[in-house]
Amino acid sequence: MDGKIEQGKPRRKPRILPPFPRRLKWLHVQSPAMTQDPSVPVLTLDGPSGSGKGTICRLVALRLGWHYLDSGALYRAVGLAAAWADIDLSDAPALVRCTFDTDIDFRDRTDESSGGGEPRIIVNGVDATDELRTETAGAAASAIAAIPEVRAALKDRQRAYRRPPGLVADGRDMGTVIFPDAAHKVFLTASAEERAERRYKQLSEKGVSVTLPGLLREILARDARDANRAVAPLRPAEDAVRIDTTGLSIDEVVERVLALVPAR
Ligand code: DC
Repeated sequence: MDGKIEQGKPRRKPRILPPFPRRLKWLHVQSPAMTQDPSVPVLTLDGPSGSGKGTICRLVALRLGWHYLDSGALYRAVGLAAAWADIDLSDAPALVRCTFDTDIDFRDRTDESSGGGEPRIIVNGVDATDELRTETAGAAASAIAAIPEVRAALKDRQRAYRRPPGLVADGRDMGTVIFPDAAHKVFLTASAEERAERRYKQLSEKGVSVTLPGLLREILARDARDANRAVAPLRPAEDAVRIDTTGLSIDEVVERVLALVPAR
């Protein structure tokens, strides 16, 4: 044949793997557990509970036409699934198994008429949206979130939400641990008193019976636990823009956040 190409056979380019050390990295990046695409833009919004992150993130995601990750809901869902399975919140190995076994599905309702598109959250086939919003679920989430193995078990699951055309990620460690390479990072704050009042209004409207001083105590306790834990404590990323939402309307905060994402 002397270098001639056989008729009828497509000319196939030889597949060349990168040399050894780079090949390892290449294989790692291709592994199914790392499904995030680093070219997809991410906007992270971190902050303490009651800083308005949920509403702001949903509205920002809607305006950008990007996906939305409510990472707190993942921790809440695992806490709830653990309660359903009678798992003790101090039993780390059982909680890690529960984290892998829990099926969590967000059913999007992204039209504005549904109040910014609050999704239904289905845990192991059960619509648990209302149960997940309770202070009990929040406290359980905060407790399991302090366990490093649980956080590690949720890492890839959170990163898999990074899909085109973009992702708005809401949580405590989105800018510091989960998406440290995010192009846009925001840290939202508000005074504890204002956060307690917002929560009081929200829960009262839903017919949940709570007291303002009780909510303030719970918010301060959760802040302290989230900020002082050893792994991924609540803190702003060094490159995050801080926005204090005390006294600002939702629309004002949404506009300030959107102004950080250029050339849409
Ligand atoms: O955002 P949220 O209130 O739904 O979160 C519930 C708890 O989950 C919160 O107290 C701390 C924990 N959490 C976390 O540790 N890391 C995240 N990225 C999101 C939530």
